[in-house]
Amino acid sequence: MRKAVCPGSFDPITNGHLDIIERASRLFDEVVVAVLINKSKANLFTVEERIELIQEASAEFPNVTVESSHGLLVDFCRTRGIQAIVKGLRAVSDFDYELQMAQMNTSLAGIETLFMSTNPQYAFLSSSLVKEVARYGGDVSRLVPDVVWKRMRERLADGE
Ligand code: PNS
Repeated sequence: MRKAVCPGSFDPITNGHLDIIERASRLFDEVVVAVLINKSKANLFTVEERIELIQEASAEFPNVTVESSHGLLVDFCRTRGIQAIVKGLRAVSDFDYELQMAQMNTSLAGIETLFMSTNPQYAFLSSSLVKEVARYGGDVSRLVPDVVWKRMRERLADGE
């Protein structure tokens, strides 16, 4: 059984993330989307909300499940028998940090990271930028799953 994890903060999941998850689900028997807690980031959605949004957005992919983790990604992988981490690479600017994390994860636990080139359609996309644009009233409906767009508008209308 080939198992992979797609890790991230996913606050919120974007169409760029979803594209990587879908492509990974075609390459692996099982894909676990791991919502990891990044305390240095100001979040729009709680971890539970992010999990729910990813579950709804990825409902059509039968071999995709969603979980959260407060610890190290390699420990998450070890306890679930996950052999590979799949990450999207948007541009060279992503590369330095991603390479550093990939090498750290290999050195900690021998876990491989596979980089997938982001669909050029989503190369400029990030959760932070989507939130910023939406906070100023911009339309990001083409950039996030419908369920996320709906929840973002509700959350921002409530003054977060
Ligand atoms: O979506 P993000 O915030 O860019 O994702 C980064 C993330 C969450 C994948 C990374 O920070 C991570 O793996 N965090 C879990 C804790 C951990 O294992 N840290 C060491 C990384 S080498």
